[in-house]
Amino acid sequence: MKRILVVGGNGQLGHCLQKLAPKYHDIFDFNFTGSDALNITDKAQIEKEFEEYQPDFVINASAYTAVDLAEKEEEKAFAVNAIGVGNLAEVSKEHNAILIHVSTDYVFDGETNLSYSEDDFTDPIGVYGASKRKGEELALENNPETVILRTSWLYSEFNKNFVKTMLHLFNVKDELGIVGDQHGQPTNANDLAEAIMDIIQAENKKFGIYHFSNYPETTWFDFANKIKEFSDSNVVLKSITTEEFPTPAKRPKRSTMSLDKIEKDYNIEPKHWENSLQDCVEILKITNA
Ligand SMILES: NC(=O)c1ccc[n+]([C@@H]2O[C@H](COP(=O)([O-])OP(=O)(O)OC[C@H]3O[C@@H](n4cnc5c(N)ncnc54)[C@H](OP(=O)(O)O)[C@@H]3O)[C@@H](O)[C@H]2O)c1
Repeated sequence: MKRILVVGGNGQLGHCLQKLAPKYHDIFDFNFTGSDALNITDKAQIEKEFEEYQPDFVINASAYTAVDLAEKEEEKAFAVNAIGVGNLAEVSKEHNAILIHVSTDYVFDGETNLSYSEDDFTDPIGVYGASKRKGEELALENNPETVILRTSWLYSEFNKNFVKTMLHLFNVKDELGIVGDQHGQPTNANDLAEAIMDIIQAENKKFGIYHFSNYPETTWFDFANKIKEFSDSNVVLKSITTEEFPTPAKRPKRSTMSLDKIEKDYNIEPKHWENSLQDCVEILKITNA
């Protein structure tokens, strides 16, 4: 049985992988670690875990994801998203394990009307994006048998995310202003978890950077409107500009990524974001999470 080590197992993506794991119980053994048991900034801890568990695959679901706070906590963001990823890649290379790492659309500056392809120039406009870009570089440098999945606007029924924040606000507010001039592609983290498992099972693996999200592009305002529709809310939503909603970290204006490469190399067909969103809202209605 092949062994899969999941680092950051208590995060949003980690929870989606935990949910999916039972489906693979006869072919894969999973070991989920939280930051308390395995902190990727501590290389000795990673080495110990690899000695004991001897994984064939490592999924890095861990990250410093506080985009705004990162502007003040640059060192911390780089420690996890860059140095930590470098550690993980180095140790996985030493143990002949394949690394599946997750990155972000925020490595791009968002100043284009075209969809970004994997080899387009990266130019992050915030600390979080810069730390994730450094992590991509170190991952591929330290372990060439790495697949990097850049994803965007991640949400699910787990942990904190835009969909859950909206559902909460719809219950406590009559009217909300939502940014309507930033474009991107929402991604249900359950779909990302499935794509990761498809890659792990692929016979002929290709390494390097891939984009994965739901499609096509939308805006935060249109995304919020669909959440409203699927949750039968009466809240009034107003489209506002980025200037009207200032945040410590700048966000790309349009970070839409082309999904052609993952479809061609791995036969993974991304789902329409509205269908994946509806699945999530239905789950949240039932679980009231
Ligand atoms: N969320 C988004 O909108 C979004 C968009 C694009 C890309 N991504 C990327 O997608 C991936 C998954 O994101 P997510 O939303 O699942 O993130 P998340 O919910 O914030 O989970 C991240 C996990 O990483 C763990 N972690 C933090 N520092 C760690 C360390 N030093 N060692 C080990 N674990 C550590 C955290 O554990 P503790 O809580 O215990 O610290 C947390 O459980 C990340 O690579 C992220 O950059 C996310």
